Amino acid sequence: MAERKIIYWIEGDGIGPEIWRAARPVIDRAAKSAGIEFDWRELLAGEKAVQKTGSPLPDETLETLKGADLAMKGPLGTPVGTGIRSLNVALRKGLDLYACIRPVSHIPGLETPVKHPELVNMVIFRENTEDVYAGIEFSAKSAEAEKLGSFLRNELNCAALPPDAAIGIKPMTEKGSKRLIRRAIKYALERKLPSVTLMHKGNIMKFTEGAFRQWGHDVARDEFGDLTCTEKERLPGRLVIKDRIADAMFQEALLHPAEYSVIATPNLDGDYISDALAAQVGGLGVAPGVNMSDTLAFFEATHGTAPTIAGQDRANPSSLVLCGAMLLEHIGQPEAAQSIRAALQAAIDAKTVTGDLAAQVEGAKIVSCSEFGKILAAYPALQ
Ligand code: NAI
Repeated sequence: MAERKIIYWIEGDGIGPEIWRAARPVIDRAAKSAGIEFDWRELLAGEKAVQKTGSPLPDETLETLKGADLAMKGPLGTPVGTGIRSLNVALRKGLDLYACIRPVSHIPGLETPVKHPELVNMVIFRENTEDVYAGIEFSAKSAEAEKLGSFLRNELNCAALPPDAAIGIKPMTEKGSKRLIRRAIKYALERKLPSVTLMHKGNIMKFTEGAFRQWGHDVARDEFGDLTCTEKERLPGRLVIKDRIADAMFQEALLHPAEYSVIATPNLDGDYISDALAAQVGGLGVAPGVNMSDTLAFFEATHGTAPTIAGQDRANPSSLVLCGAMLLEHIGQPEAAQSIRAALQAAIDAKTVTGDLAAQVEGAKIVSCSEFGKILAAYPALQ
């Protein structure tokens, strides 16, 4: 009897339906090869939810996910006129998905803007709930900005603050930073990876990003003292905790990528470096990701809804397919995960790819989204 696992899934808007149709059989076959049967249970969000319930994010979806351990989603568009700024942000906040984890490595055969993309093998842990993304922002000359500005000038010695400035607030907490960094350190230790780098802009934002850096070193010393060391110490067999100023990290990612493994970073820095690294390895459209709380691993295609090609069977389902590989790895099935990656590699080696990837594969033959899914599902290790 195959082991059953419940996976909640959100179809997503735009190209969501077609990439799911292509990706799910591939993921199911890989699970089956590991003796697992996925019990997919759909939850509503986005346009489909509006049509069926009138709300883009029904309570039932959030409540079910609060009790779930595995879920996966397609891309969600920004609902117009509902008062929800972003469904993705609402999901992250509502479910306390505090760690956004993005593995980045090169898929051989994809052309990239750098000479040695194969040297990039990093996993980014981006804090997902704090920082300037907390949404505390007031427009220039608004009553709120004027009130806050006058308080800052008069009570807190911020005389240089212009009276007509827009104001944004950057909250970062010890708890929020430490839980993200703790998770990154555990991840590196479990996989025997060489280093965790704390990426921050603490030289300028001393009490927010500088604190992130310090809290990171504190967690490493206080909770993993026997297993970690600083860069200066470099004790054999221990995980090295590095730290880098964000702008230097961007240089390092290009100049010495092989020296970096796990990156733990605040929200905004993480947003930038995730996309920059994905572009560096030519994988911006195919990168998978997961958002995690302490109980839920919520895998998501990292691209958007691609409205201009939606419904045309032209989309690339690779990001969702690779989410399936991440999920299998997460539940302790690395071989099944590897079969999915090998299937994708074989399709690229055979130069049969969707239109978006054709520009990166010399002599490519363009296939549709559904054909691409069939090619992946036909990979021998998935039979
Ligand atoms: P996008 O990622 O949808 O599109 C950017 C470009 O990449 C377009 O040329 C698109 O055709 C192409 N593209 C994206 N995914 C593709 C795929 N799987 N196969 C082939 N081509 C693909 O980003 P955009 O246009 O900025 O956003 C469109 C909508 O998606 C917006 O409503 C945005 O809010 C939402 N979005 C949702 C995300 C999520 O749910 N995680 C992430 C990013 C955007």
